[in-house]
Amino acid sequence: MKDKLSNIVFKKIAEVCGENNLEAYVIGGFVRDLFLNRPSKDIDIVTIGSGIDLAKSVAAKLGKNIKVSVFKNFGTAMFKYKNLEVEFVGARKESYQRNSRNPIVENGTLEDDQNRRDFTINALALNLHADKFGELLDPFNGVNDLKNRTIRTPLNPDITFSDDPLRMLRAIRFANQLNFYIEKESLAAIERNKERIKIISFERVSDELNKIMMCERPSVGFKLLAKTGLLDYIFPDLAALRGVDVKEGQKHKDNFFHTLTVLDNICKNTDNIWLRWAALLHDIAKPRTKRYSKDVGWTFHGHEFIGNKMIPEIFRNLKLPLNDKMKYVQKMVGLHMRPIVLAQEEVTDSAIRRLLFEAGDDVEDLMTLCDADITSKNPDKVAKYLDNYQLVRQKLKEVEEKDKVRNWQPPISGEEIIKTFDLPPCRAIGDIKTAIKNAILDGEIENTYEAAHAFMIAKGQEMGFKVAE
Ligand code: CTP
Repeated sequence: MKDKLSNIVFKKIAEVCGENNLEAYVIGGFVRDLFLNRPSKDIDIVTIGSGIDLAKSVAAKLGKNIKVSVFKNFGTAMFKYKNLEVEFVGARKESYQRNSRNPIVENGTLEDDQNRRDFTINALALNLHADKFGELLDPFNGVNDLKNRTIRTPLNPDITFSDDPLRMLRAIRFANQLNFYIEKESLAAIERNKERIKIISFERVSDELNKIMMCERPSVGFKLLAKTGLLDYIFPDLAALRGVDVKEGQKHKDNFFHTLTVLDNICKNTDNIWLRWAALLHDIAKPRTKRYSKDVGWTFHGHEFIGNKMIPEIFRNLKLPLNDKMKYVQKMVGLHMRPIVLAQEEVTDSAIRRLLFEAGDDVEDLMTLCDADITSKNPDKVAKYLDNYQLVRQKLKEVEEKDKVRNWQPPISGEEIIKTFDLPPCRAIGDIKTAIKNAILDGEIENTYEAAHAFMIAKGQEMGFKVAE
């Protein structure tokens, strides 16, 4: 491992330790990632004694203008060096109380510090003292677990998870990210302790969910969340997608597994996390809209509209941003059935114009979502649907070239309607505006100011308003 610690930061730590007879170790995720050959920019240093003093001495050796940030309350200090973030802390021993994630912290030995960590693969430490530089300290056989691709807690998993229930999500996230397995006892302990996740803030939960979302195949993580029962606590609307109902011998597909296939599909084509979220949420309202009738079997009418309406609450609960990102997800969910209809029927230019107008610049993302939504196991069907969508794309392109509706705004403003008819603020203004927009999108009138103006006058008069003098 010595040769992998060639960075000057480690050399300077070794010098300081040698000169002052101190112990310091690089520990945790950085060491794990060294073994896995994964790039890592966060370095955690543990020392026996004061992390703050060590950080200051090392920074001074590295150069005059390195600014050390000190967090006195936590007894930690950090500095940035080139693209690295180096954090220093004194080794600690922690004991937890049942209702809090915040432990009682005391100074401790390296062993105490390794004992309090989440997984064997995250408890590896490399000695940085000049005399023992690069020596591995691996009390829980973490290297072996790395070889066997195993996530395992160093101590009794009931204690490790109960101490800090966020670790249950971390176990699943690491399993997904690293393509590892959660060892049997640790997995069973997650099922036993799942309820403890309630004491974790949703900001932290969502951090982990977002990391799962950015994996190559997030379905792995979500299946583990469902299997362990954690999903029922952190994301009940998603958990509700599970299951198949049968009536008169007719069953619908399991919308949870369908959704996860759509999510994995889209991950092959986009790194846009919000488009990935749209894939996860596209059918979220299916449980609420599910109906059965003898004539047509199972239906989920309007699930895209109800889904669109559910998203603000889901984002609020999960502490996801309530901004344009959320609006984008809403839009994708609300529109995801539209290209399906366009692919099935004889399509009018007007329907295409409407979709272009509503989707705007996100219309390609919408088509990416629709492609991902094809989850048939029959390759002929998949090829046919994909072909249909290519046709929709072609039509979208043609109509956009001709009519330029993607970033279009109707030519008459509300202000102008008010002035023309001398109206007080009222509903009719919006109604006239919508009528103008529809007339243009439907091709009833030309997309010009003059045509829209004439249409406005006619529409206003029809509604009983007089043109102001
Ligand atoms: N750790 C822990 N319990 C937690 C969080 C962190 O025991 N709930 C320990 C682990 O030893 C971990 C180290 O603190 O390796 C650093 O945590 P963090 O930076 O959050 O995670 P990494 O393991 O570095 O991985 P990633 O950056 O992918 O989150």
